[in-house]
Amino acid sequence: MNEIYKNPSYSPEERTKDLIERMTLEEKVGQMCQIDGRENPEFWINERHIGSFLHVRGKEASRLQELAGKTRFGIPIIFGIDAIHGHGFYSGATVFPSQLALASSWNPEILRKMAAITAKEVTLTGLHWTFSPVLCLGRDARWGRVDETFGEDPYLTGCLASEMIKGYQGENLSDPYSIIACAKHYAAYGETQGGRDSTEADVSERKLKSIFLPPFKAAAEAGCASFMTAYQSIDGVPCSANKMLLKDILKDEWKLKGFIITDWDNVGYMHRLQKVAPDMKKSAELAILAGNDMFMSTPEFYECAVELVKEGSIKEELIDEACGRILETKFRLGLFDEKRNPDFSKAVSIIGCAEHRKVAYESALESIVLLKNDNSVLPVSDKIKKIAVIGPNADDVEAQLGDWSFGPRYYPEKPLLEYNEYDTSNIITILDGIKRRAGSKVEIVYEKGCDMFDSSIESISSSVELANNSDMVIAVVGDTTLLNGEVRDRSGLDLTGAQQKLLEALKKTGKPLVVVLINGKPLTVPWIKDNADAIIEAWNPGMEGGNAVAAVLFGDFNPCGKITITFPRNVGQSPVFYNQYPGWHGSAKYIDVDSEPLFQFGYGLSYTSFKYSNMKLSSKEVKVDDFLTVSVDVTNTGAYKGTEIVQLYINDIFSSVTTPIKELKGFERITLNAGDTSSVQIKLPVSALSLIDRNCMEVVEPGEFEILIGSSSRDCDLLKDVIKVV
Ligand code: NOJ
Repeated sequence: MNEIYKNPSYSPEERTKDLIERMTLEEKVGQMCQIDGRENPEFWINERHIGSFLHVRGKEASRLQELAGKTRFGIPIIFGIDAIHGHGFYSGATVFPSQLALASSWNPEILRKMAAITAKEVTLTGLHWTFSPVLCLGRDARWGRVDETFGEDPYLTGCLASEMIKGYQGENLSDPYSIIACAKHYAAYGETQGGRDSTEADVSERKLKSIFLPPFKAAAEAGCASFMTAYQSIDGVPCSANKMLLKDILKDEWKLKGFIITDWDNVGYMHRLQKVAPDMKKSAELAILAGNDMFMSTPEFYECAVELVKEGSIKEELIDEACGRILETKFRLGLFDEKRNPDFSKAVSIIGCAEHRKVAYESALESIVLLKNDNSVLPVSDKIKKIAVIGPNADDVEAQLGDWSFGPRYYPEKPLLEYNEYDTSNIITILDGIKRRAGSKVEIVYEKGCDMFDSSIESISSSVELANNSDMVIAVVGDTTLLNGEVRDRSGLDLTGAQQKLLEALKKTGKPLVVVLINGKPLTVPWIKDNADAIIEAWNPGMEGGNAVAAVLFGDFNPCGKITITFPRNVGQSPVFYNQYPGWHGSAKYIDVDSEPLFQFGYGLSYTSFKYSNMKLSSKEVKVDDFLTVSVDVTNTGAYKGTEIVQLYINDIFSSVTTPIKELKGFERITLNAGDTSSVQIKLPVSALSLIDRNCMEVVEPGEFEILIGSSSRDCDLLKDVIKVV
């Protein structure tokens, strides 16, 4: 018999069809299961025909793949892993800055490079799929998973995520170094109330389509081969039971070429936590009917699905469709034709190699945001001969690498990688980096100063003494992995432990105070804004973070990052995202706090300064299918060469429904020598001025729109003009 599925000269579609026709119901349902590969994998391969494992690492992947090869059709397993800012669960791998940090670079190219390197390192260890990028919007800093997002803006998130997807998936999925990406968590997962992970998101269909779906649509257009459904419910419907989201929009309207996976045990949660199904079988039925294809970590799904088909509640065609999407992706990846087994001999020389580290370094440089620099205290001048580096994050590998390195913090009782298994010798902490860069010319003294979880102030006095005997203080404070991540939401965003007291004591020494923040999310630090001479926001800068921070401190690199998430002054001011809806009555806003947030979306300084002038529009009157070109002259008015991120916003002046007061629609990076001027042009399709109307339809309404261009989302940083759509 002609076994088409074995023959690579047939298309993935033809091979899938041939294979599906040969498979039993049980074999097909098995392909729809993904289980933690550390839990009895032999049983799942031999008795349950499993399609995928997650959390498998090292040589275990080849052992399991070999076992799968011996089953009736030898269908290869697809292995998934959370390699979300580098292959962080693999000791020695290149660890990049967190996604929120990388977003501050506004540099799609660096994201693509980072993703391609991650893909290469992941494939060399025998895995094929990363659960990245995260397209949730970080609009409330209390939420534990803000560090995983690109920040608060849908347009920027879509742009950066698309490049990351292209980096992971390469030109072609069958390229030996391509892996599949996974756009998650579909949808509006970051929008749960009060930042409480996985609670209900109160989002209307109109708002969903206006704000939360556009990044996912961009991911589908970039060819993302898998999507993960979010845990939470929207307007009463858990995302994994939401047919409109999964089947109607993602599969039918956006033509998903790939498959949908649930998040961890979503089917179980629908029954046990969200209580929309009285038993697991009903929960599985809801999830299949909604359009999920693969089921993460719900072992009961296998029996439930088989029974549902046998008793006639679910048509077998639905199983064929889901299994078909998974198999087709495996064919597209070339899994059937070359086993893509780990190549550890090659891995040794490639994983974490100098070339990869260089990109980790460059991406850390571009992720750093200078938030304050009074009297040009930075870069460190030649007059500074002794620096006191003080603070709990100055020499802390875990805080610096951030969540999803070592092991996910949500699973501490069963870490993927024990902390002592991780080789930290190649991680350059902030202290390491400063010492290396300072060399013999500047003396560096260090003390931890205080603890992040202990408010005792005993160790502060000796730090103060060090500071008193130095010319400058670099205080490295922030948060750590235990304060970020899944099930780690916070009700407060102040510095923890004795960090605030430490800073106040250091300030009293009168020495120039530079604060370096190593943190996963915005913190409420108005005292630092008012009292530090300079502030460097370095986020979780990855394995090369120390070298990058030192390069910025000493002026080898002129910082150019801009924050992609607004910092509140206090938690009560949240949410503070820039693209608010109009209508807040009164001019004082909250009466008990400054009406402006601490630092706004798009803000970031440089060692040089830029002036914007001569804004021009290619036309004052446009039609819906036209393009508009917005140009502006940018002049480097300072003394250093620098890179500026030019941002384009729009505002629909009058519309049939309320629209955000400002929406980012374009950006451009430009590098200028001191004194130089260049004209920056941003092309904007008029269709980008659309809104979602009361009938949930996307339309561009005729009328006037403000076009704003400048260096941040703050009004004072923007030039503006008006166009008319006719
Ligand atoms: C749960 C998380 O929500 C998701 O982001 C992750 O990819 C899976 N677990 C697998 O670890």
